[in-house]
Amino acid sequence: MCGIVGYVGRQGCAEILLDGLGKLEYRGYDSAGIAIGVEDGSVQTVRAEGKLKNLQRAYYQAPFEGLVGLGHTRWATHGSPTESNAHPHRAGRVIIAHNGIIENYASLKEELLASGRTFESATDTEVVAHLIDRELEKNPDLSLHQATQNMLALIEGSYALVIMSTSNPDELIVARHASPMVIGLGEDEYFAASDIPAVLAHTRQFIFLEDGQTAILRRDGLQIFDEQGNSVEMTPRRINWDPISAEKQGYKHFMLKEIFEQPARIADTLRGRLSKELDDVILSEVDISKEWLANVQKIVIVACGTSYWAAQISKHMIERHARIAVECDLASEFRYRDPVLDENTLCVAISQSGETADTLAAMRMAQELGAKTLGICNVVESTIAREANGVLYTHAGPEIGVASTKAFSTQLIASALLAIWLGRRRGNLDAQGASELIQTLRTVPNAMEKILLDAEQYESIAPDFADAQSFLFLGRGPQHIIANEGALKLKEISYIHAEGYAAGELKHGPIALIDEHLPIVVIATKDRVYDKVVSNLEEVKARGGRVIAVVTEGDNHVVNFAEKVFFVPDAHEFIQPILTVVSMQLLSYYIADFKGTDVDQPRNLAKSVTVE
Ligand code: G6P
Repeated sequence: MCGIVGYVGRQGCAEILLDGLGKLEYRGYDSAGIAIGVEDGSVQTVRAEGKLKNLQRAYYQAPFEGLVGLGHTRWATHGSPTESNAHPHRAGRVIIAHNGIIENYASLKEELLASGRTFESATDTEVVAHLIDRELEKNPDLSLHQATQNMLALIEGSYALVIMSTSNPDELIVARHASPMVIGLGEDEYFAASDIPAVLAHTRQFIFLEDGQTAILRRDGLQIFDEQGNSVEMTPRRINWDPISAEKQGYKHFMLKEIFEQPARIADTLRGRLSKELDDVILSEVDISKEWLANVQKIVIVACGTSYWAAQISKHMIERHARIAVECDLASEFRYRDPVLDENTLCVAISQSGETADTLAAMRMAQELGAKTLGICNVVESTIAREANGVLYTHAGPEIGVASTKAFSTQLIASALLAIWLGRRRGNLDAQGASELIQTLRTVPNAMEKILLDAEQYESIAPDFADAQSFLFLGRGPQHIIANEGALKLKEISYIHAEGYAAGELKHGPIALIDEHLPIVVIATKDRVYDKVVSNLEEVKARGGRVIAVVTEGDNHVVNFAEKVFFVPDAHEFIQPILTVVSMQLLSYYIADFKGTDVDQPRNLAKSVTVE
């Protein structure tokens, strides 16, 4: 998974490419590079290992300019993160940037080597450049687009490609299969990008390329083709995102900005989806027959990473309020077992990006087995959103921090809406029951603001815990899921080992870990298992563990067992997990920030995992 940006138009494009790559760094930052067609008809390239700033340094030492260019920021899959493996890759007259994996690259490479071609990188991508160049060498009259089409017939795997050639210096060719690619439309200029924010400062009109499509971008026009090479018309969509919302807005990190944005994004996700009487949920955009959904026998939710913890919370919400059996699966596991699904099953795929390879594959598998599918996605027109039978968008806006925060809390809101909607249609929730849940959902933004007002308290304890080798997070019921998400958050950004555990399972193993060095975060909010969690807390305290407790405002009891207590507002059980997760996010953020890690781009991680 990598980020690509391309430009053809009337301006010198170096800044456009470098800025665009900055917006795409969340997709990978092992290396970066740009290529620009310069005045003498040649294409000049600069690449650098590591983060974008290395590329910028290299570029500004010897700048060059031109009206057509492409750029790439890499998350290494094939070949180590070195400069020689950095994109753009070049073979003869062809220069390309690629996101995805060419699965049959090894046999193609062997064949190309045998024909006398030489390779400069260990990537799968370089074969693509060679294959196109070979086509152009065989037939110099071939257009770059036709040569690309011939190459596409030979490769297998996933790709978003932007291609330029010294023999066609005025155009870019774009191709997409199973990796995201959008085309931005300007005045006498076109942009190609893996994601909208990369070029949102320049245009608001976008075309979302579909799998199998290719395009020719020239200053004077855009042509799009289907897999067979027939010309197709696509209607551009206007994207109203505020470009500034993709910037840090004064926060030290995107992650912190995104944590603080949650009340507003949650309000956005609820907006327009509640009936006037506030006793029902309107999901008009979920394009699955209401009758079918009302009779669904089983729901299977597939997801990865943080979205998987959202799936687990969804299960609690749907089972409790709609009384439908729900299974949750890690998408990477689901696709390699033999799940029992049929045409009465609804498969829900939860994915911020809508592009996670395992989640997409799991959803496609469910479709093949006859199930109907519903995406809960954040990225508009992403692959999961487009391929699912219905989509329920979260309105979190662009999430740049690799560690997911606002995407997660809005996924919980979308799940809550789905649970109420199903509950109403299945007769399990009457108007009054739905109204109670809806009223409580509407209190989330304010309640969350209260937690955010306490952010400094989280910051103040960070030095006391930043040296810990390991953390344990405990909770029961939905708060057990939040404990898992808390542990995931801490480990991904602070690099401290952390484990989430069901508090009731403590005595079956993790209790052996407890000593005076182990910080244990216990979520003990006032809910139906509160007393049980307090008993677990006592077990921890009796063994000398360092307890950080997250409790309901006004709880004076737990204070006696904890080294540090954080309060969250007294709230209905339905929304408690949506609030306590903010506490987990702040705790992890400030510990990581105190340690000085790269919070927004933690080592080895990527925002959108479009490979298996
Ligand atoms: C990566 C990201 C996580 C995210 C997961 C699933 O691992 O670093 O933050 O939760 O992918 O991504 P998705 O876009 O499918 O929600």
